[in-house]
Amino acid sequence: MKPCEQTTAWATLGGHFEAHGRELDLREAFARDAGRCAALSFEAPEIFADLSKNLVDTATLRFLLELARERGVEARRDAMLRGDVVNATEGRAVLHTALRAPPGAAPFGAEVHGVLDEMLAYADSVRSDWAITDIVNIGIGGSDLGPQMVVQALGAYGHLGQRLHFVSNVDGHDLMPLLARLEANKTLFIVASKTFTTQETMTNAHAARDWFLSQGGQHVERHFVATTTHIEAAAAFGIHTTFGFWDWVGGRYSLWSAIGLPIAIAVGAENFRALLAGAHAMDRHFAQTPLERNLPVLLGLLDVWYRNFHGFASRSVAPYHQGLARLPAYLQQLEMESNGKRVDEAGRALPFATSPVVWGEPGTNGQHAYFQMLHQGSDVIPVEFIAVKHPAHSQAEQHRKLLANCLAQSRALMLGQTAAQAAAQPAPTAAAGFDAAALAQHRSFPGNRPSSTFVLDALTPRSLGALIAMYEHRVFTSGAVWGINSFDQWGVELGKAMCNALLPRLKSGDTAGLDASTAALLQRLSS
Ligand code: F6P
Repeated sequence: MKPCEQTTAWATLGGHFEAHGRELDLREAFARDAGRCAALSFEAPEIFADLSKNLVDTATLRFLLELARERGVEARRDAMLRGDVVNATEGRAVLHTALRAPPGAAPFGAEVHGVLDEMLAYADSVRSDWAITDIVNIGIGGSDLGPQMVVQALGAYGHLGQRLHFVSNVDGHDLMPLLARLEANKTLFIVASKTFTTQETMTNAHAARDWFLSQGGQHVERHFVATTTHIEAAAAFGIHTTFGFWDWVGGRYSLWSAIGLPIAIAVGAENFRALLAGAHAMDRHFAQTPLERNLPVLLGLLDVWYRNFHGFASRSVAPYHQGLARLPAYLQQLEMESNGKRVDEAGRALPFATSPVVWGEPGTNGQHAYFQMLHQGSDVIPVEFIAVKHPAHSQAEQHRKLLANCLAQSRALMLGQTAAQAAAQPAPTAAAGFDAAALAQHRSFPGNRPSSTFVLDALTPRSLGALIAMYEHRVFTSGAVWGINSFDQWGVELGKAMCNALLPRLKSGDTAGLDASTAALLQRLSS
């Protein structure tokens, strides 16, 4: 198969960008075509997606779909879903989709459902154990971000008797203030680590166990459980209640596995199963819907269009639901650890850019921080709005204000405001003698700034599962087009190795052989 940049579709897209793409004006496009919104809106399980405020026309989509076909996205998708070894650099299959499939519908069904049933039964037993008031998940990366994001998102489904906490940072300022508020015999620790070797997690787990014993805590075996693929290492730590998973579950794709234990404790077995069912519905959409209406595929292709043709280096995610506050952080690992690569699968340096920087905050908070730059800054940054129709509270008017803000932002980004329009608006008094025309320029907006809007009916376990799976498959799609391995993460290794080498030097102060900058900093910091 030809590398991405040597395909016919890539060349066609390049020509199309020069002829129509660079200059596409959304305001004109809507004025020209009354059917634009309908043509560029898509329905997927639990999600309505309005992509019409993006810098594409139907020809752009057609050429992007040709690119996907030329790059064999469908065959690669089928290989992943079948359990082929698509993570070649680690020699592994990639089967997080099997974790949410009904029995018999995907590989490893018996193993998956065996652990799932046990994990959910245990979660329900914790939920009804009134002696446990606090549950602390100790994990980092995929062993933290997914569960933490979902527990927060499904706050309305939680039960009030128990508090869930997440500790990830090796910085003692994360764990110690939390421990100061806990009672050892009322606390359950979940040590969540696929490998059970991660420095941050093992350090916090040991510190938590020391604290537990120092507080007169009894029965480590009842107050510490583990979710890991490395059951023996957990046993060596003194943990005997373990829920396993498999090497074909990547860390950032693991919230559906035993790593989801805090979610199951927070929302119960039935809601956890609904989360899986929502993700499975999106898996089927991804596997079976023609590419023309396949939402994750279209989003992945849009990412390619923006990154490689428009040259946009970042994408902002704006969830208009406080429950999704951690979604941008979760997506940073999902997207940037997956697709932040500079060589293709064969190790060839890529002549084009890959993952954008993904970032964001819940609306409306972001509006009062960085939206200034989104509207008037010198970079174009596509924005992704997530709106939820029905809130989980009874403040209907407050919710209407939230949604009005969401709609206003995407509309303002697109329409902008000319200097003449700005001049006609009332304005605060500028400095004496300040030129009125210059003020109007400050108050003008270029507009034509792209965005997508996803609409969920309500934020439920099922819709959240579908939303997360949509993002997973979108990342798969752009990775497959680029020809990179979206499932390894070698880029985290060098820093880990250097940290291990520097650790003893921070105590000894030994700077021999270090570069001058690191030596000077180490001298300043060592004790
Ligand atoms: O950051 C590297 C990484 O391996 C992630 O991919 C993973 O989610 C995280 O570390 C934690 O790993 P583990 O679950 O093995 O502790």
